[in-house]
Amino acid sequence: MTRTVLIVGCGDIGSRVARLELAAGQRVLGMARSPETAARLAAQGIGAIAGDLDKPDSLAGLKGGWITLYHLAPPPTSGTGDPRLAALLESLPEGSLPKKVVYISTSGVYGDCGGDWVSENRAPNPRTERSRRRWAAEQYLGTWGLRHGITAVILRVPGIYGPGRLPLERIRAGVPVVREEESPYSNRIHADDLANVCFAAAERPAAEGVYNVSDGHPTTMTDYFYRVADRFGLPRPPAISLEEARRVLTPAMLSFLEESKRLDTGRMTRELQPKLLYPDLESGLAACVNA
Ligand SMILES: NC(=O)c1ccc[n+]([C@@H]2O[C@H](COP(=O)([O-])OP(=O)(O)OC[C@H]3O[C@@H](n4cnc5c(N)ncnc54)[C@H](OP(=O)(O)O)[C@@H]3O)[C@@H](O)[C@H]2O)c1
Repeated sequence: MTRTVLIVGCGDIGSRVARLELAAGQRVLGMARSPETAARLAAQGIGAIAGDLDKPDSLAGLKGGWITLYHLAPPPTSGTGDPRLAALLESLPEGSLPKKVVYISTSGVYGDCGGDWVSENRAPNPRTERSRRRWAAEQYLGTWGLRHGITAVILRVPGIYGPGRLPLERIRAGVPVVREEESPYSNRIHADDLANVCFAAAERPAAEGVYNVSDGHPTTMTDYFYRVADRFGLPRPPAISLEEARRVLTPAMLSFLEESKRLDTGRMTRELQPKLLYPDLESGLAACVNA
């Protein structure tokens, strides 16, 4: 039976999710805040629903009736919560709510964990404003889901990489990395595999609650830059001490260096059983070179 899903935030990952849903025979709608986005969606076989999460009035006409609502749009870049998610959820028509909401959050909600392996049982301790907004959004969605009896799936996603999503410019510019022994752990997921996880979260009837997402093979952030450089035949960036990095890198770059954790993805593997095409960087980067 053909069912309809709505993807809110139908950008790179959303388009990949749409392809999986379309291949599974579902009808896919995407929210578009501009005619350009609507045209891009149409070219991908995705029906456009007009709406801008920053303009709650534009959401008043939503009709509902979708089996799954994927919320993949980011929160605004300032503020303490996620008014975009709130505006969307509060504008959904009561009588035809989705069965499930799949929400992409960030593994940044855990804050710094000193390199520990971190499962979903670890209490969130976000350190950046960006991660605090995500944590607020998770809580908002959880409360809303309980209130309405709707299943909420929250995916805590680390660094997304893939074709067009690699730090090649940074490497070419020779921006330094922190020397390996001081470098934090980083976790990654290929964009196609994140889409696979989103799709599995929607498809598996028992999927509910919070899931860490990654390829399960964290290495240091410096290792990541070195491997990208090696794979693309670029010189490895120079390595500096963490102390020096604090003086020369931008606050945005530093914020990623100040947090170290290894995501335990046991729950994702057991319960979502996603078909990961790229279970480690080696295979994922090889696919990026050939893309
Ligand atoms: N980069 C990472 O490593 C990382 C890590 C963890 C989580 N994430 C999150 O993963 C999610 C998916 O990422 P992505 O790469 O697919 O992002 P993306 O390509 O930038 O797509 C985001 C989409 O959200 C839409 N959007 C933004 N503001 C909107 C608004 N006010 N109203 C309606 N739509 C709006 C954009 O619409 P337009 O097409 O109109 O611009 C865009 O299509 C994002 O939430 C991202 O923050 C990313």
